[in-house]
Amino acid sequence: MCGIFAYLNFHANKERRHILEVLFNGLRRLEYRGYDSAGIAIDDSLSPLHSTSSPPPLVFRQAGNIESLVNSVNQEITNTDLNLDEVFYFHAGIAHTRWATHGEPAPRNSHPQSSGPGDDFLVVHNGVITNYEVLKETLVRHGFTFDSDTDTEVIPKLAKFVFDKANEEGEQTVTFCEVVFEVMRHLEGAYALIFKSWHYPNELVACKRGSPLLLGVKELDQDKSNNHVFKDAHFLSKNDHPKEFFLSSDPHALVEHTKKVLVIEDGEVVHLKDGGVSILKFERRNGSSRPASVERALSVLEMEVEQINKGKYDHYMQKEIHEQPESLTTTMRGRLIRGGGSRKPKAVLLGGLKDHLKTIRRSRRIVFIGCGTSYNAALASRPILEELSGPIYREDTAVFVSQSGETADTLLALEYARENGALCVGITNTVGSSIARKTHCGVHINAGAEIGVASTKAYTSQIVVMVMLALAIGSDTISSQTRREAIVDGLLDLPNKVREVLKLDEEMKDLAQLLIDEQSLLVFGRGYNYATALEGALKVKEVSLMHSEGILAGEMKHGPLALVDENLPIAVIATRDACFSKQQSVIQQLHARKGRLIVMCSKGDAASVSSSGSCRAIEVPQVEDCLQPVVNIVPLQLLAYHLTVLRGHNVDQPRNLAKSVTTQ
Ligand code: AGP
Repeated sequence: MCGIFAYLNFHANKERRHILEVLFNGLRRLEYRGYDSAGIAIDDSLSPLHSTSSPPPLVFRQAGNIESLVNSVNQEITNTDLNLDEVFYFHAGIAHTRWATHGEPAPRNSHPQSSGPGDDFLVVHNGVITNYEVLKETLVRHGFTFDSDTDTEVIPKLAKFVFDKANEEGEQTVTFCEVVFEVMRHLEGAYALIFKSWHYPNELVACKRGSPLLLGVKELDQDKSNNHVFKDAHFLSKNDHPKEFFLSSDPHALVEHTKKVLVIEDGEVVHLKDGGVSILKFERRNGSSRPASVERALSVLEMEVEQINKGKYDHYMQKEIHEQPESLTTTMRGRLIRGGGSRKPKAVLLGGLKDHLKTIRRSRRIVFIGCGTSYNAALASRPILEELSGPIYREDTAVFVSQSGETADTLLALEYARENGALCVGITNTVGSSIARKTHCGVHINAGAEIGVASTKAYTSQIVVMVMLALAIGSDTISSQTRREAIVDGLLDLPNKVREVLKLDEEMKDLAQLLIDEQSLLVFGRGYNYATALEGALKVKEVSLMHSEGILAGEMKHGPLALVDENLPIAVIATRDACFSKQQSVIQQLHARKGRLIVMCSKGDAASVSSSGSCRAIEVPQVEDCLQPVVNIVPLQLLAYHLTVLRGHNVDQPRNLAKSVTTQ
C-alpha cells in the first residue's frame, strides 16, 4: 500500500516553504503505509485564480524514505535558487509515499507519475491497476512512451490522451473533472488517485475505488479562536472564504489540520475548485452510466493529535505496547455491564450488533476472516466462541477482523460472503474503513491509532472484542451464566493485569540481549495460546528480522523435535489452563533433549516448570483462560521490540512491509 496526500490553499497567503512543510509532514504521517520511495509536485510560480494554464509544475521524486526526499528537495532548492519565501495565494500540491508493487524503488518509479514531457497531468496513486498492460499497449499505439515500470503511469497518460482528444474535437471547455471521469471509466483494479494539471491551475481532482481516501477541510476566517469551526455541509459549495483542503489516504495526516472530514466513497470523483468541493458519481440509468452530482455531509474525526505522536517513547511500537492498559479500557468502555445483585447479571452490550444478535445466534456457522495478526486474534478467540455460542444453525455469519479495515484479501472474502448472502460483521479499528462500511453491522475495537507496522494493541483489543462477542452470543444461555460472569469480571480487571505484565519490560530487554545473535526462535503453544505462539513468532520475525516460528505443541513429536539441541532457543507457553499438564510434559521432553528453554508460566509456577533451574521462566499474572492470550502476548511483544532495537533494525517500518496490505 502507499500513502497519498494533497494540500490546496485557497485565498490564503502561504509561502512555498510552508507548502513544502505541509506536504512533507503529510507524508511523514503516512510513511507507515509505505516507505521505499516518495515524491511531490508543487507549482513553479503563482497562477492567477481563473487562468486557463500555468507553467509546468516542479516535480521531485526520490528512492528511499521521506527524509531522503526532503534532503534531495533541499539540495535541489539550493542548486536552483528556488525562492522559498515566494507567497502563493492559491496553490495545489500533491505528494506520495510508496510501497513498491510494480517496479523497484527508484525515482522513475516513484510518484507523482507523469503524462510525459511537460508534465501536463500528474498523478499520485494508492492501489493497483490490474488492466494497465492493455491500456499501456493502446497508449503506445497512440505514440506515448513509458518511462517507469509502474502500473500507475497509464493513468496520467490516459488523462492527457482524453484531454488532447477533447480539445482536438473542439471541446475547449472539458473540465478537469470530466477528464478524470473518462479516465476512471477505463481503469480496473483498486485505486485512490489525486490528479494535478497545469491546464487546470489551482484545482485538484481525486477519485477512488477500493483504496481509502479522505478529504479534510479547514476554514481559516470563521472563528480565529478555533480553526476547526465549520458551520455546515454547505461549506462544500463555492465561497470566497480563505480555506485549506487536504486529501489523504488516512486521517493521521489530517488531524493536525482539521477534524472536518469527508470519507470519499467508491466511484466518487471529488473536484476542488474556486474554494468549493463538487462530488460526482457514476449513476446507472437506462443501461448506461453517467455522472451525477452527489450531496455529502462532512463528519467530525474522532482522533486527537496526541494519538499519532510518539509522546515520551522512542518508537510507535513501544508506545503502542505500553498503551495497552488504556486501549483495552477504551475497547470495553460502555460495553460491560457490571451487574447488580441477582436481577441484573453481568453482561456485555455491543450496540453495533444488538439488532443482529438473533440472526448470529441462529447461524449455521460463524466464520472468522482475517490476515496476519488479525487471523491470530480470531484464532485466540475461537475456543470461547465455540464454548459460548452453543449449537448454531441456518445460514452463515462471516466476521471480518481487520485493524485497518482495508486489507485486500479480507475485503475480497467480504465481497464473496455478501454475494452469497451471509450476514457480514466487521471488527475493525478504523471508522469509515471499507470493512466498516461494507459489512452489515459490527464493532469498532477503539484501540486508538496504531501506527507501528507491527500490530500490538489492536491484537489485544481484537481479542477482547471477540470475547465480548462470544459473551453476547451466549447471553441467553442459563447454563453458562457463571462462566460468563467470571469472564466479565476478568475483562474489568484485564487492564490492571496488562499493566502488571508490562513491568517485565527490563526482563525482556535482558532476554533480548541474550538472544541478539541467534538465528531462530521457536515458540510452542497450545489451546488458547497456540495463537500466542503464532503471534509472538510473527512479531519477532516481522520487526527483528530473526527467523521465528509458532508451533502447535501437540505437533512437536511429529517433526519439530528434530530441531531441538542445546543451542536453539525455544519459548514454551505454559500458563495455567486446561492444557497446562500437557505443556509440562512438553517441557520435560524438551529438557530431555537439552533444549534451551524459555518458559512463560503463571505467577508462582517458575519453580515447578523449571525444576532443575535449567530454563528461564517468565512469570505472568493468571487470568481467565480465554483472556490469557491478551496477557501472554505482551512479554513477546516486548521481546520483539527490544530484539529489534538491539539488532539495529527499524522498529516501526520493518523491511519490505507496510501497515496494511491493500493489494492482492
Ligand atoms: C502484524 O503485525 C502485521 N502488520 C500484519 O500481519 C497485519 O495484521 C495483517 O496484514 C492484517 O492487517 P489488518 O488487521 O489491517 O487487516
